[in-house]
Amino acid sequence: MNLLIERNAKDMSATAARLVARQVLTQPRSVLALPTGDTPRGMYDVLVGLEQGGLLDLSGVCAFNLDEYLGLPEDDPRSFRSYMLKHLWERLAAPPAHRYIPMSNPADEQAECTAYDEAMRRAGGVELMVLGIGPNGHIGFNEPGTPWALGTHFVALAEVTRRKEAARFGGLANVPRWGISMGIRTIMRSGQIVLLASGEGKAEVLARALLGPVTTEVPASVLQLHPRLTVVVDRPAAGALTTP
Ligand code: F6R
Repeated sequence: MNLLIERNAKDMSATAARLVARQVLTQPRSVLALPTGDTPRGMYDVLVGLEQGGLLDLSGVCAFNLDEYLGLPEDDPRSFRSYMLKHLWERLAAPPAHRYIPMSNPADEQAECTAYDEAMRRAGGVELMVLGIGPNGHIGFNEPGTPWALGTHFVALAEVTRRKEAARFGGLANVPRWGISMGIRTIMRSGQIVLLASGEGKAEVLARALLGPVTTEVPASVLQLHPRLTVVVDRPAAGALTTP
């Protein structure tokens, strides 16, 4: 595991963007997997800046999102599809031609999971995956207890995951109860993983994920077994990784 501890969230974002940019500059047709959430927003800002400066061309990339809420209209401003458009795709002069996000309202949920796995297989598999970590150690929407062997699946969102989004949805009762997510199997098969964490609130769970036992109770702990894992964090998130 490579651990990069940056001074603050801005530096974490710049480092993460550099890792993605390096991958795309080396292989312009890379297959990427991307997260939503608060943590990667700065990374997307830097990627947009690199594109605007003429240094980076993402148009050849094939991009898969990790997850999506189930039951929201796709154009709902809180859907992950809307997030990606707002924070990355609509800001690029030449966005990737091939972009995939699980459908939030599929007619047949199981068929959507199978089709998503098939699309990743046809693309040749994910070469670089960027992940955030949830307050309970989830990666994607793989909540504690998710078996390692699952591919894309639908999932009952954990209470803590839903509570974190309550303000955005105007109350806990309005937060979707279900999501659709790439599975741990897919995550572990990707060629390279970059795990991001920012802020003091992530310190304890990050330490459990990286230093504790590998257990389905802390889904991110499985990343300890990945041969090409780079963890990029800011100092507050790294707070529990070092001894005083
Ligand atoms: C979102 C995703 C989640 C988030 C995690 C951290 O697509 O896959 O696993 O990465 O919940 O979210 P933030 O960055 O908002 O703390």
